[in-house]
Amino acid sequence: MIDSTKGRAEPTAIVLAAGEGTRMASRIPKVLHRVAGRSLLAHAIASVTDAGAGRIAVVVGPDREDVGAEARRYAPRTEVFVQTERRGTAHAVLAARQAIEGSSSLLIVFGDTPLLRADTLKALADGLKEAAVAVLGFRAADPTGYGRLLVRNGELVAIREERDASDEERKVDLCNAGAMAIDGRNALALLDRITDSNAKREFYLTDIVALARADKLKVVVREAAEEEVMGVNDKSQLAAAEAAMQARLREAAMRGGAILVAPETVHLSDDTKLGRDVIVEPYVVFGPGVTVEEGAVIHSFSHLEGASIGAGTHVGPFARLRAGTKLGKDVRVGNFVETKAAEFGDNAKANHLAYVGDSTVGNGANIGAGTITCNYDGFGKHRTEIGSGAFIGSNSALVAPVKIGAGAYVASGSVITSNIPDDALGVGRSRQVNKDGWARDLRALKGGQKGGD
Ligand code: UD1
Ligand code: MG
Repeated sequence: MIDSTKGRAEPTAIVLAAGEGTRMASRIPKVLHRVAGRSLLAHAIASVTDAGAGRIAVVVGPDREDVGAEARRYAPRTEVFVQTERRGTAHAVLAARQAIEGSSSLLIVFGDTPLLRADTLKALADGLKEAAVAVLGFRAADPTGYGRLLVRNGELVAIREERDASDEERKVDLCNAGAMAIDGRNALALLDRITDSNAKREFYLTDIVALARADKLKVVVREAAEEEVMGVNDKSQLAAAEAAMQARLREAAMRGGAILVAPETVHLSDDTKLGRDVIVEPYVVFGPGVTVEEGAVIHSFSHLEGASIGAGTHVGPFARLRAGTKLGKDVRVGNFVETKAAEFGDNAKANHLAYVGDSTVGNGANIGAGTITCNYDGFGKHRTEIGSGAFIGSNSALVAPVKIGAGAYVASGSVITSNIPDDALGVGRSRQVNKDGWARDLRALKGGQKGGD
């Protein structure tokens, strides 16, 4: 969680998120789509926060409570402003007028640019040490559609939107990334003078450059790598942003000391924490909220979310760890084991084919293949407590709520419906009966009728 109320010297961030996102072809607002498990909006908020923003204002479209709610969920003190009509980027910024008043500086970003680094934004904000406006630019491989930065004698004189540009201006490859820093002393005076006299009849934030120049105010450009300013407008760009973010996260994980055997097959979340010498085998998915301590091994084809994994523990192959899983040190959770809201003490084992949900498993306990904690009765969830050193025989159903004492045994194939004291054996199945000669008699009775193969 991020606190956005700090000293006044820090820039006020304005995140523009009122766009319609039509090209996403989705019921979900564009900025609520996720990259590395975190919404585009949360990425934008994270980057301005890490860049040192004090107040954070998010501008949302009408009837977009869900977007405001996501912003507040991620950064509770976010101020949400509604742009009632979509009349351009300057119009959107002015929807946050209340946040602009009294701010020492503004840092404006788009909500759909998840790869923008905090350091880049810091450099942009630092541009205000020498200028009234700082614009983030980049060299576009294909500048089509972007606003062009028109530089004369080494100085930015205007930004021209594609639709309003001359053929000559369209050849310029230095483009507007969208992020901008504005000195608070000039911000409102400049923004209020922007008009909609252009091809789209929108209030363009980019017009602020020419207006500042007319007032003899200095404008500077800071350049970013194209990859960083990549915007998400459709599902294909969403996938491209995901790929770029994954590459970045894998790099960071490996620099932090984790071993990714086949990095390109490992899917990480923005908040995945991998300790030193953690080994991640090929084809592993880390959903949000996973922490893995030093030296643990995550074997292939495992899917983890909301889980913490202790040092030296082995998970998988083919394990599914769901929210609320906490594994201690040197635990074994093997193939086709699913865990949910389950705490395993050190050295506990569930090596094969088990469901362990809403449970605590004591140190060194051993859960046999085919064990199921029956945690749901169709109405509510109930807990299973397994004491330390307990041994759960294979193919047992533990019907919660139920406690298995420390050091106790559960006989294989049991359905356990009542608590088992420490060091006792619980048997919850009918005794085996052998009927001598029964099979031979059957064969005699059926004679040569045997069918099948
Ligand atoms: C904008 C820039 C362009 C730049 C490009 C980079 C302007 C006028 N143009 O163009 O120079 O090269 O981004 O991607 O700024 N938004 C609102 N309310 C509005 C309009 C837009 O909140 O009324 C938000 C959108 O949600 C989006 C951002 O502002 O996050 C940019 O709007 P968009 O329509 O995508 O601008 P572009 O035409 O791409
Ligand atoms: Mg755009």
